[in-house]
Amino acid sequence: MVDVLLGLQWGDEGKGKIVDYFAPSYDVIARFQGGPNAGHTLYVNDKKVVLHQIPSGIFHENTTNLIGNGVVLDAVTLRNECDKVKAFGVDYRKNLYISERTHLILPTHRALDKASELQKGNEKIGSTLKGIGPAYMDKTGRNGLRVGDLLDKSFTTQYIKLRLKHQKLLDSMNFHEDISAWEEEFFDALEFMRQFKIVNGEYFINDKIRQGKRVLAEGAQGSMLDVDFGTFPFVTSSNTISAGVCTGLGIAPQKIKDVIGVTKAYCTRVGSGPFPTELHDDMGEELRRIGNEFGATTGRPRRCGWIDLVALNFACMVNGVTKLVMTKADVLDAFDELKVCTSYVVNGEKTNQVPFQMTKVAIEPELKSFKGWKQDVTSLKKAAQLPEVMKQYVDFIDEYLGVKVAYISNGPGRDQLIEI
Ligand code: GDP
Ligand code: IMO
Ligand code: MG
Repeated sequence: MVDVLLGLQWGDEGKGKIVDYFAPSYDVIARFQGGPNAGHTLYVNDKKVVLHQIPSGIFHENTTNLIGNGVVLDAVTLRNECDKVKAFGVDYRKNLYISERTHLILPTHRALDKASELQKGNEKIGSTLKGIGPAYMDKTGRNGLRVGDLLDKSFTTQYIKLRLKHQKLLDSMNFHEDISAWEEEFFDALEFMRQFKIVNGEYFINDKIRQGKRVLAEGAQGSMLDVDFGTFPFVTSSNTISAGVCTGLGIAPQKIKDVIGVTKAYCTRVGSGPFPTELHDDMGEELRRIGNEFGATTGRPRRCGWIDLVALNFACMVNGVTKLVMTKADVLDAFDELKVCTSYVVNGEKTNQVPFQMTKVAIEPELKSFKGWKQDVTSLKKAAQLPEVMKQYVDFIDEYLGVKVAYISNGPGRDQLIEI
């Protein structure tokens, strides 16, 4: 049996914290897409840790963690992260597995990412510059190198061939930065990677399922950054939605049970692209300040705005969300008034659907106002203790989406999660 946990907005919904919370109920936590563009924040013994590639179950001794074939893996980031978790006493060699089909991010992919963004001028995607797009391009272009290739004697020859191709591209893009230091680091990190349990991920995970083990697939990014269904072209390069679990791990769709969708009580986005409920005023600043909305991977300020039920409804539909988790409810504690977007007005017409070209049409959000609860909720432990006004806000969202908010997160800590 497989459950999926993923973000319903533009990423950074608090997935890491929630996976870490649920991890003891699962035997396996598996990443199925994305790469080190992700930054998942957890608190372990009250210390903050940000994970980019290692699944968020790593701090639980009895949980097996799998980096699936749908991920693109940066060996250098992985090594740095391993050092980080080791400092917490975690023996990553014991419970971290990597699929042999996982594609490697090469130093030239990072260079190509940077070159591509430089070429775009004012139309930059706002990529994290981790080489994600170029690595997936080499996968679908059938050129990429995979983790399993490391065991092949011809690996270096294959690398050199691909590097030459990339060099030509970089030259044509007028990109001449010296990447030899990255390359040196990369080859060192590949040596480090040889100590891992490199497995045939699809047999590995299906065996676990057959044995009755519980699997949680941990999404990265958010549904609105999905390469097919997000705000294209301002998206990432993988399928971030639940369908990505099947191709990113080798799991059949009927094995998936719950799809747990995580949303903030408001909304944020980092990088460029449409964001209909974005606030450009003091309210937006306040959300950023109170919510400490700065990217976990790049440190960039996150754009902030009201919760967008049109986009959330779309995300619930394409993912088949069965349960919702609402995070960062405490960030709204001090506000007198809250707003939720219930429809868009596009070219003078009201719609409840996400338009095809969100980037090219002007979207006016229709907002419904709610009273703020004006109460510090961070120390509350039970649903019955939640302010009545907060319940009204959550009930409205429940009803609009037709999916129940099953948990409310009221702080970044492991123990700050209330079951409703
Ligand atoms: P992820 O990428 O979805 O895992 O989310 P990030 O880690 O990038 O960003 C979420 C941020 O919000 C992190 O700094 C978390 O520590 C923090 N966080 C998560 N849940 C809550 C919450 O309920 N309240 C508050 N105040 N912070 C939270
Ligand atoms: P987690 O898993 C928020 C955004 C980038 C950029 C766009 C494309 O922490 O939620 P890419 O590096 O993939 O080429 O960038 O996607 N982005 C994220 N935004 N959270 C993330 O991951 C993101 N991963 C990518 O900011 O706009
Ligand atoms: Mg993040």
